[in-house]
Amino acid sequence: MADLEHLKKEAAERAAALVTSGMRVGLGTGSTAKYAIEAIGRRFQAGELSGVVGVATSEASDVLARSFGLPIEALDPRPLDIAIDGADEIDPQLNLIKGLGGALLREKLTEVQARRLVIIADHTKLVTRLGEKAPLPVEIARFGFLSTIERLRALGLGGRLRQPGAQPYLTDNGNYIFDAQLPEQFDAAALERTLKGTLGVIETGFFLGMAERAFVAAPDGVQELV
Ligand code: 5RP
Repeated sequence: MADLEHLKKEAAERAAALVTSGMRVGLGTGSTAKYAIEAIGRRFQAGELSGVVGVATSEASDVLARSFGLPIEALDPRPLDIAIDGADEIDPQLNLIKGLGGALLREKLTEVQARRLVIIADHTKLVTRLGEKAPLPVEIARFGFLSTIERLRALGLGGRLRQPGAQPYLTDNGNYIFDAQLPEQFDAAALERTLKGTLGVIETGFFLGMAERAFVAAPDGVQELV
């Protein structure tokens, strides 16, 4: 297993150990969250966990969790005991950028209802300020997307529509993603409010003040950040 994969797995297993019988668990999306789902799934199959219910943040995580026999329910207004997910950037206050995996809307809808949001990552995700390495994914409606992108550019945001091939990337919700380049200086909370007030914007990848803790794995061990 490549080094980074090993680190992701270590962080994921620390978070998966927090899941106990009877919990409703938000299941994140991405290559790190996948290890957490597998760890929870293995504990479930071994009979170590009973009565656990998952709420999946993507079709891919839904399929993976079900492959272990984990019961999966749709999101409803009841709180989740815990949600475990990866991140693209983690700042010192545990503010996050998420969504390079494309699941930001379902992740935010799910994780805002979690009593505890536990982030799992390898050390390359730590930054001193958001936007240092990653763009900010912004989910936008397909209808009129070029107009929405113009509105985003008028806010001073560079970046581009996510388009890995001939067609734009389509989220599980049937929307597009604009990967915005953040300026050097900005107020994340203010920008979040502005973006949410911009016609055509559905959700942003800012997860501000949501994470309770993060398990961050480096070659010299797993650090728990709170
Ligand atoms: C998906 C996400 C992922 O959690 C984020 O992209 C991190 O993914 P990975 O663990 O593969 O680096 O936000 O929408």
